[in-house]
Amino acid sequence: MVRKARLAGVALCVLTLFGGVLTSASASPEEHSAGPLVLGHRGASGYRPEHTLASYELAARMGADYIEPDLVSTKDGVLVARHEPEIGGTTDVSARPEFAARKATKNLDGVQVTGWWTEDFTLAELKTLRAVERIPQLRQRNTVYNGRYEVPTLQEVIDLSKRLSRELRRDIGIYPETKHPTYFRKLGLELEPKLVDVLTRNGLNRPNAKVFVQSFEVGNLKALKSRLRVPLIQLTSASGAPFDFIDSGDPRKYSDLLTPAGLREVASYAYGIGPAKDQVIPRDAAGNLAAPTALVGDAHAAGLKVHPYTFRAENNFLPVNLRSSANPAEYGNLFGELSAFWAAGVDGVFTDNPDLAVASRSER
Ligand code: G3P
Ligand code: CA
Repeated sequence: MVRKARLAGVALCVLTLFGGVLTSASASPEEHSAGPLVLGHRGASGYRPEHTLASYELAARMGADYIEPDLVSTKDGVLVARHEPEIGGTTDVSARPEFAARKATKNLDGVQVTGWWTEDFTLAELKTLRAVERIPQLRQRNTVYNGRYEVPTLQEVIDLSKRLSRELRRDIGIYPETKHPTYFRKLGLELEPKLVDVLTRNGLNRPNAKVFVQSFEVGNLKALKSRLRVPLIQLTSASGAPFDFIDSGDPRKYSDLLTPAGLREVASYAYGIGPAKDQVIPRDAAGNLAAPTALVGDAHAAGLKVHPYTFRAENNFLPVNLRSSANPAEYGNLFGELSAFWAAGVDGVFTDNPDLAVASRSER
């Protein structure tokens, strides 16, 4: 019944041609997909080193609706895809003697971190580095790709999504995240103007572009609201507070954003929320999935979609009773975890294993 209604809604929409694929002018992103959205987290990072073009391409070919670049800035102000500005664990920089002197300890959102930093490298310098697997102890197979792929720019990710959209004859969306916006603003390397500029130059700053923009901070999303015409997603952590709140002395925590009143406020600038998955279905004392919280219902009541993160196949990331063995690197029952979240009513999932999420979605 729900599926019929969704199809009818889509059929009523006006179709427009963009990027070689048909997209609807008025249906929501969820209505375009085969159900809840499959969001390729850092690409298909269960199978390739994260945030590489190879990882994003595989995610798209596996059926992901969107690919997710986390964005940081180079010294010369170019947006590149890395999970955080420190790149010692995701590139071969530590083995490059020419960059040994760049190793530095910095305060990143209140935490002292030692390593190599994108803001200390020009794009040309960063392009000499090669990506490596972040968690080789869990993803040994991915290490065969170490040293093969560059750090991509946002422009290269967009170029890839457009090329694959044409080839696969479906729109491959992008879901960029501004990483540590307050940190970069204080360095004079504001992320937001660059993001607006790149999206606009690529014809993606428009209401029906297949783009979401996400952030763990609040102030930058609110500021982007007037400069972007694409939907915004407020990310939340299971603990702590947005760093811009901490920085400005605002006492509110992430938990305050997720009360019914907090969600109504979020809905004034965002299309949806991206909570940690435990905020949707917590685990009990034994580490098994407990009953869902009220979050999905409360968010929907406020008019917000819900895209939790992060769904991963390794036992290490699964509830205890869905693990296949005591080996944290072996695959457990991700299907079981996903089916609980589909049943809880989520509108999409960030996943390192888009192929499994696509398969699970089709079984609903
Ligand atoms: O953006 C959704 C999810 O990726 C948030 O967590 O730390 O993997 O960027 P993180
Ligand atoms: Ca992210």
